[in-house]
Amino acid sequence: MPDASSAAADATSNPDGIALRRRLAELPLDQLVSMLSGASFWTTEAIDAAGVPQLVLTDGPHGVRRQPADADHLGIGGSEKATCFPTATCLAASWDPDLVTEVGAAIGLEARSLGVGVLLGPGLNIVRHPGGGRTFEYFSEDPVVSGRLAAAMIRGVQSEGVGACPKHFVANNTESYRLVSDSTVDPRTLRELYLRGFEIAISEGAPWALMTSYNLVNGVHPSDDTFLLRDVLRDEWGFDGLVVTDWGGVNDRVAGLRAGLDLEMPSSGGAHDASVIDAVRSEEISRELVIDRAVTVAELAQRSAAEFASRPDPDVADLEHHRLARRAAAAGTVLLTNDGTLPLRPDVDVAVIGAFAHRPRFQGAGSSQVNATRIERARAHLEERITGSVRYSPGYDPATGEATPTQLRDAASIARGADVAVVFVGLPPIGEAEGLDRRTLSLPGGHDALVSAVCAANPNTVVVLVAGAPTLLPWADRPAAILAAHLGGQAAGAAIADVLLGDVEPSGRLTTTFPDSPVFPAAANFGDTRRQVHYREGLYVGYRATTTAGDTPRFGFGHGGSYTTFEWADIELSTGEPSTENALATVAVTVRNTGERAGSDVVQVYLRAIDPPLYRPDRELATFAKVHLDPGESRTLQLSIPGRSAECFDPVAGRWCRPGGRFEVLVAASAHDVRATLPVDVDGDLNDGQLIALRNQPGASGPADASMVADDDEFAAMLGRPIPEPWPVLPFTIHTVIDELGATRAGRLARAAFLKVADRQRTKMLGSNPDPVLLALSEQMIREAPLRFLVSMSGGAGSIKAFDGLTTLLSALRLNRNRSAPPLRSDLLAPPATSSSPQPDGTRSPRWASCAATMQSTCSLAPTAHWSTTLRPRRRSIASRSTPLT
Ligand code: BGC
Repeated sequence: MPDASSAAADATSNPDGIALRRRLAELPLDQLVSMLSGASFWTTEAIDAAGVPQLVLTDGPHGVRRQPADADHLGIGGSEKATCFPTATCLAASWDPDLVTEVGAAIGLEARSLGVGVLLGPGLNIVRHPGGGRTFEYFSEDPVVSGRLAAAMIRGVQSEGVGACPKHFVANNTESYRLVSDSTVDPRTLRELYLRGFEIAISEGAPWALMTSYNLVNGVHPSDDTFLLRDVLRDEWGFDGLVVTDWGGVNDRVAGLRAGLDLEMPSSGGAHDASVIDAVRSEEISRELVIDRAVTVAELAQRSAAEFASRPDPDVADLEHHRLARRAAAAGTVLLTNDGTLPLRPDVDVAVIGAFAHRPRFQGAGSSQVNATRIERARAHLEERITGSVRYSPGYDPATGEATPTQLRDAASIARGADVAVVFVGLPPIGEAEGLDRRTLSLPGGHDALVSAVCAANPNTVVVLVAGAPTLLPWADRPAAILAAHLGGQAAGAAIADVLLGDVEPSGRLTTTFPDSPVFPAAANFGDTRRQVHYREGLYVGYRATTTAGDTPRFGFGHGGSYTTFEWADIELSTGEPSTENALATVAVTVRNTGERAGSDVVQVYLRAIDPPLYRPDRELATFAKVHLDPGESRTLQLSIPGRSAECFDPVAGRWCRPGGRFEVLVAASAHDVRATLPVDVDGDLNDGQLIALRNQPGASGPADASMVADDDEFAAMLGRPIPEPWPVLPFTIHTVIDELGATRAGRLARAAFLKVADRQRTKMLGSNPDPVLLALSEQMIREAPLRFLVSMSGGAGSIKAFDGLTTLLSALRLNRNRSAPPLRSDLLAPPATSSSPQPDGTRSPRWASCAATMQSTCSLAPTAHWSTTLRPRRRSIASRSTPLT
């Protein structure tokens, strides 16, 4: 598929491309422009006259969320049944690209069977801070793991003729204020940590599409950013797919078109079409540019239709997919500790404790929520498969995580009478939801208390941790064994039983550090940062921070045990004949299974630069390989170290460079468990003068203090510019979030009106006894929504112009009180509306009345569009549009 910028050139060599382009060029301008945004919540415009079919896009990422009627992006409305595979954290912990491809293919097949052309996933944002509400949807804190596994998932999905759409591009690492938060990150960290995974995923996976993130990056929304979309994504990386906004994430449609954004989703009822049409008419942008973007949309729709036409009807074997989900969940389960209590003998008397054993948590909340085909309970599996006695006690309230003294007493009592106690603890549902960051890294108090009570009652206690994100585990030394089961998808209950009983090996390794305290570099700027998040820790994220500081985290990146034992021998490094192009060197390791059970091991290769000119973390993952071995079996692995591992991004020159010099290759079982250190000299591509200049660059030493958090001077040096001023709350604009309206009296009244309407709508959608997670999520979403988002999600009920008017008026009302009001813009002095609602200050203004009416309709329709009960395209049909524009 040609990219937008090269479409014209390709059209000369591709007859189908020429014909398509010609047909699109002949369309009236409004129809052409209509192709650049959705026709409904999940579909693009079909233009029969130009031979452009409709394309269906839907979530993703760990299963298909196809909504036949209800349309929302928060997992509120119903969706078709589909297999809920393990979430990304769990899949990633398998460190097994082949398995991830297999899962991707199964998801692709299900997507095709549900008529979906593009699946919105995988999610591959870096886990900068484990408190991020969507940590469960992301693979890792490391870009090599994220990128390789995302590529594996993309290949799998696309092998079934369904496009993958990695998301969210880029630096989308917090849920708080997610639509307006500005990730302020220095160019080097952006390249080496946050863009790197996308770069790998795109070069190794070749996705059909890519989703931009809601947040800004260094002051610009990625969907408007020529640097990110054109210079990096298309020109440098050669991405040739479609770029789509996150749902409702469009900021400036014209800037977006110029930058390389193709498609706005979902339908905004044409809310932004007028600005594009005006821009073409005033020659701010060319018609050719609009055609380029329309060609990209059309070609993707055609490509998808061709895949559907050329393949047999999919035959989805539910049970087989369920079995695959079970296998994948077990493969991602990590044995954090074990004194030999695991695996359990089937004839033991077991106390099964913890409500999650019976009411499993297996996925997070939000747009990724899948309507599972079946759900396995660990309790039922243990009761069925254990021949000794099995007693159960819930131990806590599964919704809140609180434990009463009676619950704790009952749990301790059954633990005391058993050979082994298996305690299920983890995060409550509200702890893992899109749109909501966690305020604490601790487990709920009731869960911590339960583990203590049970460990005190029975030393043979096994803890099963059910959470898609790292948590603090202050009691980790007490249980006999701890299993991290993550959020393992619909079959997790069965997979946990498989692992506990030793039917399957827990072959996972952590892909995100479990800190031993809430204080670590990224934590200094996370959470209540609102509009600006300073990435002052630079490259010191996760194990990059702990290994540099010489700290031992609770459980380190890459850590995980086994029921068998392995020996590593003949570890050698050869720089002679690299096995792949641009490889630096090859590491050979012979791994032997020295135990009596089959098992898998993961060899991880890190690189440490000795005295680099630009600061670097102590070690960074270069590559990895997983191997499965029967008892006594051995295999020699050859791991090729990519050349890029020894490179760094020179922020001043704006390019990657290889300073060269002495490195150490660390062959390791985890970031904190190095088995061999092999020195290697790397040839550089810089001369002495360039090396000196690099070393003397501002920001070269990064955050130098022991806290690893840059101070103002260091941060400005790393950024290469002064630290930007925070976004002013006043005057209000369409980018103001509802909460910020609280800055003035008039704003507070408007905010109260918005919230009231939203509240009414929410009650309608969620009922009078709402699910607490959906309630919290939807409340936070509306409070943190910028006004422009309401327009985008109103399906055509609201207009940017009306909101612009409202905000100007609200700002002016405040300034009037200070006797310094700017003159109202003439376009706001529109003819009086019929309503005569009183102004917040008691007077009556026709303009206020018309704005208030718009606000009312928009706010009540905003939830209708994304919490609605019917999939209802609000755009006027093309045919009904009047005068064609040219
Ligand atoms: C999420 C995306 C999702 C989209 C559609 C957004 O709120 O950020 O990940 O794909 O909704 O549901």
